[in-house]
Amino acid sequence: MKILVTGGAGYIGSTTAKALEEAGHVPVVLDSLLSGPRAFVRDRIFYEGDIADRALVARVVDEHPDLDATIHMAARIVVPESVEKPYEYYRDNVAKSLELFDQLTALGKPRVLFSSSASLYATKDEFEVREGDPIDPPSPYARTKRMIEQVLEDLAVATDLRAIILRYFNPIGSDPDLESGIYVKEPSHVLGQLVMAARGQKDSFTITGTDHPTRDGTGIRDYIHVWDLARAHVRAVERFDDVLARAEAPSVIINVGRGEGVTVRELIAAFERVYGSEVPTTEAPPRPGDSVGAFANVDRSGELLGWHTELSIDDAIASALAWADRRQDVLGYA
Ligand SMILES: NC(=O)c1ccc[n+]([C@@H]2O[C@H](COP(=O)([O-])OP(=O)(O)OC[C@H]3O[C@@H](n4cnc5c(N)ncnc54)[C@H](O)[C@@H]3O)[C@@H](O)[C@H]2O)c1
Repeated sequence: MKILVTGGAGYIGSTTAKALEEAGHVPVVLDSLLSGPRAFVRDRIFYEGDIADRALVARVVDEHPDLDATIHMAARIVVPESVEKPYEYYRDNVAKSLELFDQLTALGKPRVLFSSSASLYATKDEFEVREGDPIDPPSPYARTKRMIEQVLEDLAVATDLRAIILRYFNPIGSDPDLESGIYVKEPSHVLGQLVMAARGQKDSFTITGTDHPTRDGTGIRDYIHVWDLARAHVRAVERFDDVLARAEAPSVIINVGRGEGVTVRELIAAFERVYGSEVPTTEAPPRPGDSVGAFANVDRSGELLGWHTELSIDDAIASALAWADRRQDVLGYA
């Protein structure tokens, strides 16, 4: 199959392009390099430009009439920035996606797989969330994700467009060949901070929030190896029509996680086990907007995609550590 991957120069997009290749498919990358590094495009078929550039999308389809589906990952993704710059987030994520979907449908390329986020879910007492559970997107970023879901659901009812919406939980780790991984200079997420503390790039790891109603008081997440996540996309494009036929709907939402909640303290323990020594930690109150978290109910991904994660948290931590050693060579900064 030939698959258009918007945002294919990014962290998850470049890994997904690799997973498509490993499965014998051909990724066609469309990315503006707004944030993704050129090094992650590698030697793939690449169009540098914007998803809302209708002429460019038409050229891509003209030059690749055999495109089977689009994986739409291109987005602005920084939550605090979305609070400061809501215009840029609604314009780039929502308005530009709308142009892309309309153009793809007009060009006869109606299969769209969309990267949504588990951060949409409202907090639940038992933390395990199903696709039909209440949502309460806490930031402009998360609200753009929900709006695009709604756009896709409405377009799928009214037009030829068909949509599989994947709600990602918390991707960690890197591509197995260490060709791509987290590229931001100072990652804000928990594992990135742990890696920096372990490597002495910061004094200690700060546990933000120790009074949450979880088993040890710290926030809970469903960490998934980015390679497992990438392979979920391969499965979804390979079974695209079948997934929607089984769902008996023109669009469907699917959680993509391991189905297991891991607290911050548990992640630190796993990290120390893999790394082989202790990481200095301090404790602090939750940051504004921090949520206690959630983990995925994975029944639907099993039923519709026939897919489950294969890699462990320890595998993902080892891969993140290996990538930290490799970053300098690929990106030119550690
Ligand atoms: N990383 C996560 O924890 C996470 C969790 C849930 C969902 N997601 C979603 O997964 C997708 C990929 O995330 P990521 O972590 O790889 O992010 P990323 O920032 O590494 O990748 C996004 C890519 O999109 C490109 N891009 C942005 N705007 C564009 C535009 N208008 N036209 C063309 N290209 C554009 C960027 O240059 C970048 O390469 C995003 O849609 C994100 O919202 C990510």
